[in-house]
Amino acid sequence: MNASNLSPNNARGGIGLLGVGIVGSAVASSILSAEGQRRGLRLCGAIVRDTTRQRDVELPAGTLSSDPDTVLGSPDVDIVVELMGGEEPAMEYISVALCAGKHVVTANKEVISKHGEKLRNLATANNVSLQYEASVGGGIPIINPLLNDLAANQILGLRAIINGTTNYILTQMASGGVSFDDALADAQRLGFAEADPTADVDAFDAVYKISILARLAFGVDVPIENIFREGIRRTASQDFRYAEELGYTIKLLAAARRENGGLLVRVHPALVPSDVPMAKVEGALNVVEAEGDLVGPLWLQGRGAGAEPTASAVMGDVLRTLSVLRGGGHLPQARPINPDLPLLEMARHECKYYTRLTVRDRPGVLAQIAGALGDMDISIASVLQMDSDPDRGNADLVIMTHPAREANMQRAVERIDALGDVGTVANVIRVESYPSAR
Ligand code: NDP
Ligand code: HSE
Repeated sequence: MNASNLSPNNARGGIGLLGVGIVGSAVASSILSAEGQRRGLRLCGAIVRDTTRQRDVELPAGTLSSDPDTVLGSPDVDIVVELMGGEEPAMEYISVALCAGKHVVTANKEVISKHGEKLRNLATANNVSLQYEASVGGGIPIINPLLNDLAANQILGLRAIINGTTNYILTQMASGGVSFDDALADAQRLGFAEADPTADVDAFDAVYKISILARLAFGVDVPIENIFREGIRRTASQDFRYAEELGYTIKLLAAARRENGGLLVRVHPALVPSDVPMAKVEGALNVVEAEGDLVGPLWLQGRGAGAEPTASAVMGDVLRTLSVLRGGGHLPQARPINPDLPLLEMARHECKYYTRLTVRDRPGVLAQIAGALGDMDISIASVLQMDSDPDRGNADLVIMTHPAREANMQRAVERIDALGDVGTVANVIRVESYPSAR
């Protein structure tokens, strides 16, 4: 039977929402839209913390409550859509829903990255589905392509911009004249930022997301503690100016790649050559660059955050679940765990480094810095002396190295920092390598 022929009353399409905030409101609107009704979707219940708050959507009378049991315990609810965010009580509610035989759709990257394996097992044990397309990349389809279309590939690497808030902040700062704080306030107003924006700025959000992608792409369970993480707080307006002068822009990158017999997963700001496509992914846009042994390179770009794009991914999961509910069958499972791909430590990573230092502007300083780098087997590719402050006798030095080991670079930075003529090592940014770029 065609799903659109089912009448809402005899079709199983009862949906319970946990959270009616930025994303939940857009999802509720979509369920209540003419198209949602035509597909037989029914909003049976919705829970929030504060039922008196003004919402962006008008819910049917009697639907809204602050009691989770009105959704989790309701026999009318077939699909629970979790859009509250945070680890608890979201994890508890999802577990209760799965154990009660309800299918679950969630956008919660924190819960999936920390408890995905346990929840997937719980879903299997209860013969229900758990879907989380919106947890990574907002509206970009990436979870389901990894589960379905790319399942036959050995994935060689993923490289992504997967946090809209930080990409928005970095883009605003790169264009000049916008402070970090103003750009963050804009991202919050536009609905991209997490309830606690430190999750975005300090890169926890991107870490959750790359851990989810790595599990699906490589069959490796990547605990978030094993992912190298550095946020964007140290990135200053001078870094954008100097990077531009050197032919680069700055992005918060999340990457997972097979190298040296293992898998390295890392999230950090990176200098990206201005002439590669990733440099042009701006604002809240996200991109995932994947490379499979069969498919070759892939590029998936789109709106990575915000109410509507995220609702697009959530509703895709809801409709997929519904078609299984109505027609039978199963949704695809994640790849089995691959025991032969150990996680590598960042200390083994190799790349070029951009280093910005404030130094005493006098003879011999550069020689001391070059010595500290040379002692760690790091050679200098170029040096720029930038903004000088003759009154204080200081100058900004920007040093680009040739490729070096992360562990060596960290030791060299400690030594440079201890030099009497060096005021501060203000920033060290890794330079991302692209095959065809400089
Ligand atoms: P909001 O903070 O806007 O909404 C959260 C909703 O959950 C609110 O309605 C809130 O109630 C409700 N809620 C929170 N805690 C509880 C609780 N303990 N009991 C009952 N209700 C609760 O978040 P977003 O809509 O921005 O995000 C939702 C999820 O989607 C998160 O997991 C987020 O990471 C993810 N996501 C968000 C994107 C975005 O662009 N915003 C993009 C992709 C994913 P009340 O309204 O009363 O406060
Ligand atoms: N806060 C997240 C971001 C929302 O900025 O990307 C999308 O997951």
